[in-house]
Amino acid sequence: MTKDVDIVDLKTRTKACVFDAYGTLFDLASAAMAATDEFSENMGTKTTQLSQIWRTKQIEYSWIRTMMGEHKDFWQVTGDALDFAMEHLELDSEALRDRLMELYFTLDAFPEVYEVLSQLKQAGLKTAILSNGSPEMLQGAIGHSNITDLLDEVYSIEQIGIYKPDPRVYRIAVDGLGLAPENICFVSANGWDVAGGANLGLSVIWVNRYKQVPERLPGLPLHEISDLKALPELLGI
Ligand code: LAC
Repeated sequence: MTKDVDIVDLKTRTKACVFDAYGTLFDLASAAMAATDEFSENMGTKTTQLSQIWRTKQIEYSWIRTMMGEHKDFWQVTGDALDFAMEHLELDSEALRDRLMELYFTLDAFPEVYEVLSQLKQAGLKTAILSNGSPEMLQGAIGHSNITDLLDEVYSIEQIGIYKPDPRVYRIAVDGLGLAPENICFVSANGWDVAGGANLGLSVIWVNRYKQVPERLPGLPLHEISDLKALPELLGI
């Protein structure tokens, strides 16, 4: 389910590319699996479950806190979600908790990210991140991945204390870049984030890295790709 907008049209309208962070630019899932594997002797099949419950609860808590009007930054929400997941799986290890939380500051970008961002910059497009992550978490991962110089802007939802997919979040990029929504190509691996961006009128590309089925939500992506390598061509680069 995509709108399949003509490539010529997408190339003409796009002035900036704005990326989601976790799962889109930064490989959170592999890092979490590798870290939990280090502790796998005591964990057995709980390794996979821990990563999944942690991520699901993290996003769930961000939505619930926004609905409750009880904002805490993504570092707090991420820690709370991990505490829930560990207690649910009866895992009691301060070392494991510390190791997993520290991941956010040592995340790697997916292999194609550096090259793709370089191509976009060379083509004269602006590049930015728009993420739930706190400014400190984002700067940690950006620095560790050596992509600081390839990003014009880093937008954190901490500017407004409201999480994705509230339309006000996507407006941060619209206002910050001073562009019409359709002139911004928003790229995310999360189906619900895709819906949120498209709902505000951004031109959205879904990087469906994990082969997920489409969400049944308002707001369709213009195209679906399996990783970021296909992005420059979609933009006529
Ligand atoms: C983010 C999450 C949704 O970076 O991946 O905002």
